[in-house]
Amino acid sequence: MRRNSDSSDWKPAAIPAGGDPVARFDRLAAEWDANPGRVAVARSVADAIRRDVPLRRDMDVLDFGAGTGLLSLSLLPDVGQVTAVDASGEMLAVLEAKVRTAKLANVRTLQCDVRSDPLPRAAFDLVVSSMVLHHIPDPAAVLTALVASLRPGGGVAIADLDHEDGSFHTDPQGVFHHGFERSEIRRLAEAAGLTNVCTRDAHVITRPDSEGKPQAYSVFLLTGRHDPSGPPLTRG
Ligand SMILES: C[S@@+](CC[C@H](N)C(=O)[O-])C[C@H]1O[C@@H](n2cnc3c(N)ncnc32)[C@H](O)[C@@H]1O
Repeated sequence: MRRNSDSSDWKPAAIPAGGDPVARFDRLAAEWDANPGRVAVARSVADAIRRDVPLRRDMDVLDFGAGTGLLSLSLLPDVGQVTAVDASGEMLAVLEAKVRTAKLANVRTLQCDVRSDPLPRAAFDLVVSSMVLHHIPDPAAVLTALVASLRPGGGVAIADLDHEDGSFHTDPQGVFHHGFERSEIRRLAEAAGLTNVCTRDAHVITRPDSEGKPQAYSVFLLTGRHDPSGPPLTRG
């Protein structure tokens, strides 16, 4: 079951072994945008998408794990409309408040836990996502569902952490992967039905470690296309 702007009958999925990611993000929602590092990641990922993907003002975009909409709202001027999908009602409530305040007509929210709820099929020209996949127990299944949500010829642009030593999250609740090896995430994307799959650098997050020394965590952008006969999604 899921909730959107028109319904309130959503029920949460069962809590997985790694802890409940929805509870984690419900708890963090009100303060999410106050962290400048998160805003910077979303801005860099939006810039990387604009660099690598030819955006159009008539595109229907799905932002998977949209949270408070940092990526959705960054891309909005370059696309037609964004459907912001997230399992956390509290994260989406922050986005909905921004949408109301700015009177945006082309942002729709959809509360949906992709581990258990179906996504609309063949409905989008582009799926984007930032920093979500490492919170998903089974990324292969979710990539398959995201590809099925694309219209023929559609593409994906998904950003996440490169493989790290496990120090990125101080709270392990709802964390299922310490980032990803790029070769492995490309393999999963191809197995999900994408072609012309590429990974490129998108951002570097620098934070002090437990001894106060700066620690760097790199973020990749994976792009791919759901049309074996079409041209590559990426520029150049
Ligand atoms: C690290 S946050 C990133 C939010 C946003 N993309 C950003 O960059 O600010 C991860 C988001 O993924 C959502 N999420 C985690 N598991 C999910 C699932 N199974 N289905 C849908 N959304 C999920 C969380 O609720 C959270 O909003």
